[in-house]
Amino acid sequence: MAIRKIVKLGDDVLRKPCKKVEKFDLRLGLLLKDMADTMHDAEGVGLAAPQVGIIRRAVVIDIEDEHGVIELVNPVITERSEETQTGREGCLSLPGRQGVVTRPMRVTVHAQDRHGREFDLTGEGLLARAICHELDHLDGKLYIDSMDRELTEEEIEGHIPEDDLT
Ligand code: NI
Repeated sequence: MAIRKIVKLGDDVLRKPCKKVEKFDLRLGLLLKDMADTMHDAEGVGLAAPQVGIIRRAVVIDIEDEHGVIELVNPVITERSEETQTGREGCLSLPGRQGVVTRPMRVTVHAQDRHGREFDLTGEGLLARAICHELDHLDGKLYIDSMDRELTEEEIEGHIPEDDLT
């Protein structure tokens, strides 16, 4: 188990477009494992490679559902629903902050696994939100760029129903 340091807002690495992963080797497997360990340690539901200082197109997601840890290498969203969801979003690179962000309700992503095998994954609700959020990181984008508004400290700490946040 190796926990890597999470890059915080203000570091240029978060704003760089990431390069494609070309080598599906042991090093990539180690990176993905470390990213999952780091995400779990920080109690996040997703982490992108640039958040640990690696400018490559790889993300991990774990929303604690039947999928377990999802590894997406060179992911591309191929379908997004017209139906949207508006809700709370945070980021391990912006600790203590949250915003209200509108995302598609459902997306399909085409990606490769750690061995280079291609697959498609469709996610709804929180999984769709996590996929969109993490893939944005690979293009140097953060949720604060597209949020409807930032939540106050009170709203972050309080247990407010998602529907009341908009
Ligand atoms: Ni993030």
